[in-house]
Amino acid sequence: MKKVVVLISGRGSNFVAIEETALRERWSETIGAQIVAVISNRPQAKGLTLAQEYGIDTAVVDHTAYETREAFEEALYEVVARYEPDLIVLAGFMRILTEGFVNRFPGKILNIHPAILPSFKGLDTHRRAIEAGVRVHGTTVHYVTPALDGGPIIAQAVVPVLPSDDEHRLADRVLIYEHQIYARAVKACLTGAVRCENGRAVMDDKTSLYLTLFAKV
Ligand code: GAR
Repeated sequence: MKKVVVLISGRGSNFVAIEETALRERWSETIGAQIVAVISNRPQAKGLTLAQEYGIDTAVVDHTAYETREAFEEALYEVVARYEPDLIVLAGFMRILTEGFVNRFPGKILNIHPAILPSFKGLDTHRRAIEAGVRVHGTTVHYVTPALDGGPIIAQAVVPVLPSDDEHRLADRVLIYEHQIYARAVKACLTGAVRCENGRAVMDDKTSLYLTLFAKV
């Protein structure tokens, strides 16, 4: 059985979307994979309670308890490594991971970012998209490398920006597609339909279409 460890910091809606897809599609039988743990850097993260309701192991590695980023990452590594994960899924995990952590799991860490990368790396993506006056925005799933929001792109969903949008309305619309695209991307990585090779996400045309979504409004 392939093991997925999910890292969160907050509400955990992307985790829930992936777990719901895994249950609906019976991943443990159909692709031999399951989420084995949800780990948060914040003790109060709502996603921890949700994970417990699914009967999934949870753990907290509170970054405020460590003096340095390196010490935090070492503690996080110890907890994550215990599960021997095949895939580590960052789902609203709001800590930057340095190469000290990332290089221990090459090609095995995924992140979802709320923008069409390489535009709008970093924070406040929805507000910045509206301020920039772009007509389309969206979300990207990518492999995690030490470059912030800079790893090979696996999947993208494109969402129109409407004149009536504020950052919250836009964020809500993007989130719907985050949930769809992240579950698809995790599945594609678990089945081997997508692989990380020489700094690129490698896949065939059919998989690429499956991992490209255009929102209907
Ligand atoms: C999501 O919108 C995700 O894209 C974003 O945080 C939110 C988490 O929501 N991630 C980042 O900004 C990463 N830099 P969730 O906890 O409900 O999944």
